[in-house]
Amino acid sequence: MEMKAPRGTHDIMPDQSGAWQIVEEMIRRRCRSNGFDEIRTPIFEQTGVFARGVGDTTDIVQKEMYTFEDKGGRSMTLRPENTAGVVRAFLEHRLYAGPMPVKLYYLSAPMFRYENPQSGRYRQFHQFGVEVFGAPDASCDAEVIALAWGLLKDLGVEKLALHINSIGCPKCRAAYQEMLKAHFNAHLDELCETCHDRLERNPLRILDCKIDADKPFMKEAPHIIDHLCEECQTHLENLKKYLATAGIPYTIDPMIVRGLDYYTKTVFEIVSEDIGAQGTVCGGGRYDGLMRLMGGPELPGVGFAFGMERLLMVMDALGIMPEDDNTTDVYIASMPEEEARQAAFRLCLAMRAEGLRADVDHVQRSLKAQMKYAGKSNVHLMIVIGQDELETGKITVRDMRTKEERQTTMDAAVGTVLSMAEGEE
Ligand code: HAM
Repeated sequence: MEMKAPRGTHDIMPDQSGAWQIVEEMIRRRCRSNGFDEIRTPIFEQTGVFARGVGDTTDIVQKEMYTFEDKGGRSMTLRPENTAGVVRAFLEHRLYAGPMPVKLYYLSAPMFRYENPQSGRYRQFHQFGVEVFGAPDASCDAEVIALAWGLLKDLGVEKLALHINSIGCPKCRAAYQEMLKAHFNAHLDELCETCHDRLERNPLRILDCKIDADKPFMKEAPHIIDHLCEECQTHLENLKKYLATAGIPYTIDPMIVRGLDYYTKTVFEIVSEDIGAQGTVCGGGRYDGLMRLMGGPELPGVGFAFGMERLLMVMDALGIMPEDDNTTDVYIASMPEEEARQAAFRLCLAMRAEGLRADVDHVQRSLKAQMKYAGKSNVHLMIVIGQDELETGKITVRDMRTKEERQTTMDAAVGTVLSMAEGEE
């Protein structure tokens, strides 16, 4: 057996994780300032959570779920998305009994979809997402969009487009579904096999079919945005006003239907042209019927999810990938004799207690080899503990960049290092 990560998965290696952490920290800061609290839910749920929540005519449920039977004979599924799981947790913990709205976020949460792996499309990927429960107004749609947009600004990502659409509510959708059926019935022999099934059960899903996407009859299909009821129309008009107030440019894209069944009214995507076909960095929308569908009270919801890998790919393509500072503040080299190693170790722990990134030798290198190692590694300050230092307690801190040296003592070394480390900032 070849020891390789499973197809469609990837390791986030130490030279990449620093950038992830910086982006994650910016996301956390923005969520906090926007009044969102973090939620962490299990990476697997009972299959019914997704089958019911996401919808059993979607590609995700029909083709992409990692479903397995556990040892107790229960059907479980690795989460393909997080909205249904967050709704499940919201209901289970009765958060609906408290004040509304409830604003939640999840960060770098792993998701699993059995898709055809390609650039930007993985079988395990990570999402940052937000969900707001209990806020029916279009101002809240604008609020979550503004969060996503503001975050992209924070990160320096400028070249993105916001596409919005409305897919109506069960009221206006029923009549529209009939129009769609009539349209696609006229093209029966051109529809793929899965779409034949969708035609009866959920014709809206045909608009999201990856196989039929480029066939001409798709472009001629009626758009739901032209057939909205008054309430949905007003909601859309209000959203446009709020987006204008927030100064967020958008395009109305009647082709966006999204790949999940729970949406009502607003749907949106933020797209980058910099990373090719898988350019949708963020997708979301309103889902006013999901809570009820999952056995809870009649409470509206709205949210989005970013693909973290895609976000970082865009940043990489734009040359704005954040660089992690992995400088070792101080490296304490010592003679290989035990007494010197002990002194270096003690000093190292004292430095770390002050928050400095400090290191010592653990592989019994000679003093010369340690100094060479420090010279080659990203070390800012170096201390050498040799015979003289042990005998006198006096040591020298050397700045590896400026070559400045300062004399100090073992006892005062932490203070000296702190001031030299800060001095450079
Ligand atoms: P989604 O559009 O299925 O929506 O996924 C959101 C984002 O996750 C996509 O825009 C994309 O950036 C990323 N993504 C999806 N699949 C993959 C994949 N196979 N590989 C890499 N990245 C991927 C949802 O998941 C909804 N739960 C979003 C939502 C939250 N709507 C309301 N609240």
